[in-house]
Amino acid sequence: MDAHPAPDGLIRRLWPSDTAGFRDHLLRLDVDSRHSRFGGAVSDDFLIGYADRCFGIDDVIYGYLVDGVVRGAGELRGVGHNLPLGFGGSAEAAFSVEMDWRRRGVGSELMARIVRAARNRRADTLYMSCLTSNQAMASLARKFSAELRREPDEAVAALDPKGPSAGSVFGEFSDDFAGFTTAMLDLHRRAFSMRPAAR
Ligand SMILES: CC(C)(COP(=O)(O)OP(=O)(O)OC[C@H]1O[C@@H](n2cnc3c(N)ncnc32)[C@H](O)[C@@H]1OP(=O)(O)O)[C@@H](O)C(=O)NCCC(=O)NCCS
Repeated sequence: MDAHPAPDGLIRRLWPSDTAGFRDHLLRLDVDSRHSRFGGAVSDDFLIGYADRCFGIDDVIYGYLVDGVVRGAGELRGVGHNLPLGFGGSAEAAFSVEMDWRRRGVGSELMARIVRAARNRRADTLYMSCLTSNQAMASLARKFSAELRREPDEAVAALDPKGPSAGSVFGEFSDDFAGFTTAMLDLHRRAFSMRPAAR
């Protein structure tokens, strides 16, 4: 069984063993993409620290991987409350796809996983914020029927993920089971390729 296939690659949940791959994906984002993703200019040091903090118990991150390299990510975390995800409250999502892999449906595939994860954790509202000029994110949000509110320098999209269903829970479980297996194989492959060659 393989994690969910996507154009040229696959989408699977990222785990703490993927921290370096996720960090390197963020570091490959150009200046404009970093600005769009984080709402401002961010340095390499910021991104390194950010990636290190991203695999908390409460975080759900899906990655788009091509040949084992993370080329896109969708992130979900609780926001505005002290409750872990799964105990209600609101959640926020953020997305990043590297330039050469855009406009092929990867962002949409990541968003579908994130909305399902928010749904299964009973989030009451899922927020996504971006710059008002971010047409790509606005299109993505509209595609999932999110309500878009434009403010002077920020746009906020909000959608109601609905409650979990048997299908959404089973879908996440089976995707994550397959994805975890693939992640362990990737880890094994990386560890193996780092071993010194036999003499
Ligand atoms: C936003 C982002 C994740 C979209 O990723 P993607 O893989 O290109 O998304 P998709 O290919 O699934 O496209 C989703 C929809 O948006 C539309 N779209 C994508 N890029 C667009 C653009 N630049 N202008 C207008 N519409 C755009 C697509 O046509 C598609 O709609 P459709 O299916 O009805 O045709 C990507 O552009 C990105 O990483 N941007 C930089 C970081 C960022 O802005 N993150 C969002 C804030 S957290």
